Parts: sequence; C-alpha cells; structure tokens
Amino acid sequence: MDHQVKRIGVLTSGGDAPGMNAAVRAVVRTAIGSGIECIGIRRGWSGLINSDFFPMDTGSVSHIIDKGGTILYTARSEEFLGAPGRDKALATCKLLGLDGIVAIGGDGTFRGALALSRQAQEAGHRLQVVGIPATIDNDIGCSNYTIGFDTACNTAIECVDKLRDTMQSHERCSVVEVMGRHAGYLALYVGISVGATAVLIPEREVDFDRDIVEKIRRARLMGTTHYMVVVAEGAGSAVDIGRLIHDEIGIDPRVTVLGHIQRGGSPTARDRETASRMGYEAVMSLCAGKGNRIIATQEGRMVDLDMEEALQMTKPFQMDRYQILEALTSTGRFPL
Ligand code: F6P
Repeated sequence: MDHQVKRIGVLTSGGDAPGMNAAVRAVVRTAIGSGIECIGIRRGWSGLINSDFFPMDTGSVSHIIDKGGTILYTARSEEFLGAPGRDKALATCKLLGLDGIVAIGGDGTFRGALALSRQAQEAGHRLQVVGIPATIDNDIGCSNYTIGFDTACNTAIECVDKLRDTMQSHERCSVVEVMGRHAGYLALYVGISVGATAVLIPEREVDFDRDIVEKIRRARLMGTTHYMVVVAEGAGSAVDIGRLIHDEIGIDPRVTVLGHIQRGGSPTARDRETASRMGYEAVMSLCAGKGNRIIATQEGRMVDLDMEEALQMTKPFQMDRYQILEALTSTGRFPL
C-alpha cells in the first residue's frame, strides 16, 4: 500500500496555550520542506465539521513564533464527540484528500483524534493522526512537559510578585488562585518560585489547620507580616479559602483569581523550542508512515508514542517538589 503522505491538516483544539503558534509554524514549515501540502483547519475539530480551512504556505506562519494564542483559533466541539459529527469531519478530510492531521492540544483533543482515525479506518479511509501536547496545565500523562506550561508559570509568577509588593506594604495576606484544571503543577511551580507561605494542590488532601492556619501562624512567629497563599483551582476556591482565613485567624485577606491572563502572552524560550521540536517530530512521524502517535517528552528526550497507549499513561505527581516547597516555607518543618 502507498503510504506516501501528500497533504496534511493542522489544527489547535481545547484551551489555547502559549507556544501553539510555534508548533503550527514548525508543522507547516517541516511539511512544506518535505514536499507535503499543508491545510490549516480553523477552530479545532469544529473547523473540520464546518469546512473551515485554508491552504498554508511558509509565509502563512511568518512572524508568529513570538505570538501567544493561536492563529488557527481554537474551540471545544460538542458535535465532534458524537459519531455523526465525526462523519461530517471525515467527509471534509476525504474532500480535501488529507492523509494525516496534526492536532495540537490536550488529552480531549487526542481522544477526538483517535476516534476520528478509527472511524476513518472503518470507512476504508486511511487517516493518520499525530498529537502534540499543549496545555498550560501540564496534565498529560504521557508527557513530562506540555507546551505553554513554562510561559503560564512565568506569567503567574510576575503577577504574584506584583501582588507581593502591595501585600508587603500593607502587611496583608494574599490568596491567589491559579489555573491547572484538576492538576496542581502550576500552583506547585508558582508556589516554589514566589516563596509562598502555603500552597494548596488537588494531589494532596487539604487540611486547613495544617496547610494554612499553622503556616501563617508560624510565619507570623518568625516575624513575617505578609503571607502569600497559592491555591490551585482544582484544590478549592480562593474566595472560600480567603473567607476561612478571615474566620479562623481573624486577618482580612485579599483574594485574586488570576484567571485567563495565565493563558496569554509571548511564549518563553522553553515553549518556543519545545513546540518547534514537537512540530518537526510530528511531521517526521507522519513521513515515516507512523500513525496515531503522540509526540511527548520523557526524561528529557522527545519520543513518539502509540496514541492509544499514551492516552492510558499517567504520570506520578512531583511530590518531591512539594517536599522542597514544604522545606522552604517559613514553617521550618517538612513532615512528609
Ligand atoms: O486547560 C486549560 C485551562 O485554562 C484550565 O487551566 C482551566 O481550568 C480551563 O482551561 C478554563 O477553560 P475555559 O477557557 O473554557 O474557561
């Protein structure tokens, strides 16, 4: 059978992440350099359903490596979750003569890609998909790192540093909620990097007395008069935590929910470089006739994994880093 790849599609799906544009650029330029035509699909899987696409050339991706967001737009498509929606998407793939699709996003994006590829196979159409992990949450089990995480950490750190200036001046307590969906990576890295008084993550059951009250008390006993509490959105609401702090300790915290600001901004060197390598590897994988792969980083190396197996993988949470965080907080105790 002729597996030669002649034309591929590229899309971004799910929550945007800084570095997605760098990945799109790498896919398009690697494809064109390999003699493969590249079609940009707008608004994720919805673009395939609604025939929302355009041919891309090397110029289409000029001057985007430094831009946050995604020039392809992104969406979460309800319709694509069902077989009829995917049939419509397949019809577009057939019409365009796509041999493969590079899907840049999170695990929801990859599950959709796999379902589409299987449905294509059942219909006698060969459609290879390759996933590139991109989410600020860093919550994809098969990959140590996901594009966008480093930029989001840096953005959040910059915000928290600014908050600290005013908290310090007014001798206040700040409760900051960071994103991460069900994962605590952002909160953990931000907490370590800003020297937080306390950090709440979903991977560790929250004991309010141990994790907040005691830490603030000890910090106060050591002479600190301002406190920085970082809450992962998956661990609870900063507003609720702020209220509890007020009721239990009698101080009047200020609550900040950083929200979508964490998803924007020019990608850092790490995100641009990782995205460029992943985009390149994704096209190489398609050229090698491999299908249904996810490009991932494992122990510092870039690997391509079988998509179905990769979707089953979990990564252990970095509790060693939580221990470091505990050691460095003002409690002076790290009882893990
Ligand atoms: O997955 C990225 C993320 O920003 C999560 O951290 C957050 O929970 C979610 O997306 C927010 O989604 P939306 O942009 O739909 O509000």
